[in-house]
Amino acid sequence: MLPSFELSAQPAFSALQALASALCDASIEQLFNADSARAQDFTLEAAGLHLDYSKHLLDRSARDALLELARQAGMGQRINALLGGEPVNNTEGRPALHSLLRATSPGALQDKFDQVCAARSRMRVYADTLNTGQQRGYSGEVITDVVNIGIGGSDLGPRLVTDALKPFHGSVSVHYVANVDPADLQDTLLELNPATTLFIICSKSFRTEETLTNSLAARNWMLNSGASAADLAKHFLAITSNLEAATEFGLAAENCLPMWDWVGGRYSVWSAVGLSCAIAVGWEHFEQFLGGAERMDQHFASAESHANMPLLMSLLEVWYSNFFGAGNHVVLPYDNSLQRLPDFLQQLTMESNGKRVSADGHVLDYATGPVLWGSAGTMGQHSFHQLLHQGTRLCPVDFILPLTTHTGMSEQHRLLVANCLAQSRALMVGRSEQAARAELQQRGLDDTQITRLAPHLVLPGNRPNSVISMAALTPATLGALLALYEHRTFCSAQLWGINPFDQWGVELGKDIGVQVLQRLSGDSATGAVMDAATERLMQAWQDAQA
Ligand code: F6P
Repeated sequence: MLPSFELSAQPAFSALQALASALCDASIEQLFNADSARAQDFTLEAAGLHLDYSKHLLDRSARDALLELARQAGMGQRINALLGGEPVNNTEGRPALHSLLRATSPGALQDKFDQVCAARSRMRVYADTLNTGQQRGYSGEVITDVVNIGIGGSDLGPRLVTDALKPFHGSVSVHYVANVDPADLQDTLLELNPATTLFIICSKSFRTEETLTNSLAARNWMLNSGASAADLAKHFLAITSNLEAATEFGLAAENCLPMWDWVGGRYSVWSAVGLSCAIAVGWEHFEQFLGGAERMDQHFASAESHANMPLLMSLLEVWYSNFFGAGNHVVLPYDNSLQRLPDFLQQLTMESNGKRVSADGHVLDYATGPVLWGSAGTMGQHSFHQLLHQGTRLCPVDFILPLTTHTGMSEQHRLLVANCLAQSRALMVGRSEQAARAELQQRGLDDTQITRLAPHLVLPGNRPNSVISMAALTPATLGALLALYEHRTFCSAQLWGINPFDQWGVELGKDIGVQVLQRLSGDSATGAVMDAATERLMQAWQDAQA
């Protein structure tokens, strides 16, 4: 069990408050001028990733004070507890062993490691059989398409990895259905032939409404195409920790791959939950993906605090959330194939750290996980970057930048890179009133017009941002990147004193959803009476059905 920790009660907390208020009025550009080694010394390397955190409202003293906070939190022991399989998920009494899913040696966790290896071998067989055209459906035709049905952690990770590694795809087309809106499944099935389609029902609990509803509809689609009940075994697999529910659904145990209660859904892409992406990219590339994450785990376990990339990024998150009042964090991948990264990171960080009580259950008097959002560059530049540059809210940014492209169009890629570096610099330097006036003067405006327009051209700058770059987006660097954010999330949770591995907050909506459904189905005997607004909306739905 991890010792409890309260951020605001630490001696480092008040020291950090004083340092933050001093730095509030500092200029990041001046910090560069005052420290000639800054561009070099505020960077880190790990597992093929390069972090440049020099464009932050942070000097060496503030960095030391943040590292002292990590020391007061006993971060080293906490990291060991996580990686060593201690029950760090204290409300559910479980370890959180996503790192074991990509490990190549068992450490002290031989039993669990054996289970992981056995699951990996089965995944490999499916990935190889499908990619070599040896898996056939009920009519004898080769399976050409795989549809992953899952939601949340059973969708976002595999979907991101499949998208991001398009240059590594094999012969099978992989699709994803998550939403209970029937249009999601319908649109996907429109393109597919049942005789050549394999469904993977991905649900750790095998109780998730959306996934079960879509799975039943997929089964009917298959049966209506002429497949018999016995044929379904050739077209459905499940990934679950609830074998009983999966067999009740009609799946044979040999068609089910395991998940374990010691892996959280949002941390599960490395397990059989990643089967759809392993099929998409082939086993060798999936292993490289695991290998990249394992390298990040090794770095996380062994790097000194000051050189530990996930820890440094977490300290920056706490710095802005708790000492500068930043309520959000922006992730901007300058790589189109990473456009789903913000979605994945939203679940990872907000389901993990969107908590208002400490791990031991008392209400916290400080902010925890910020809202995370973002999109692929350069799209946001023509949309929300206005707010980043001139809005009233502080939005720390992570730019993610692969330095080469798989497209072969390096000239065009140069433009993408230029935009990324320009945005990072523009956020930092801004534009002074003097520069704004000079620009307007150059445009030939008179003094009255210049005075009227100059305030609108001023960008205050000093908007903190990091650049995480890599030589290329490969399975290995993608694995390292996702593991980096997982460990950053863990460290921040430790500094906030919360449990990042449960998600009690999502349950109430599910319970009320069942009650509303009962009412919409005309079951007024069991359906609860709701508030007046919900009653009116339910009535509107009933009226629309007439
Ligand atoms: O409702 C939230 C959640 O439980 C997530 O934590 C999880 O990733 C998702 O639903 C899907 O759960 P399952 O894999 O059990 O279907």
